[in-house]
Amino acid sequence: MSAETIAIANDHGGFELKNALKNELTNLGFAILDLGTDSDESVDYPDFGYAMASAIDNGKASRGILICGSGIGISIAANRYPGIRAALVHDSLGAKLSRLHNDANVIVFGGRMIGTDLALDCLQAFLETDFEGGRHARRVDKLSNPL
Ligand code: RB5
Repeated sequence: MSAETIAIANDHGGFELKNALKNELTNLGFAILDLGTDSDESVDYPDFGYAMASAIDNGKASRGILICGSGIGISIAANRYPGIRAALVHDSLGAKLSRLHNDANVIVFGGRMIGTDLALDCLQAFLETDFEGGRHARRVDKLSNPL
């Protein structure tokens, strides 16, 4: 069976944290689709949020990780796509709940806000927690069909 592919994309504010997260994904046996950016040279976060959304919409990756300085701008960008449920998290309980209740398919970090060890804890919770379904499924369905 081939390894699940996790996409990762970031602006310059997320470049440093990305490398630690990629190492962890490799250690856990995931395949990685790195959508850039590949340096700390200034870029525009919407470009990378949209690249992530396209990769997931097109089936190139099943789940993803986004990072910008605060995590806010790149979340806003990715969440403009109906099939994306990008959750900006600051602790592992939030990461776990984003899977249990929201079926988040993208986890988002503020590269200038969160330490590496905490981000790794969050990533682990995100990767190992299944969606609870039940009453949450109805709510998640509504997210794809705004009024
Ligand atoms: C870039 O300086 C910064 O604005 C960006 O990484 C992010 O924090 C935007 O929401």
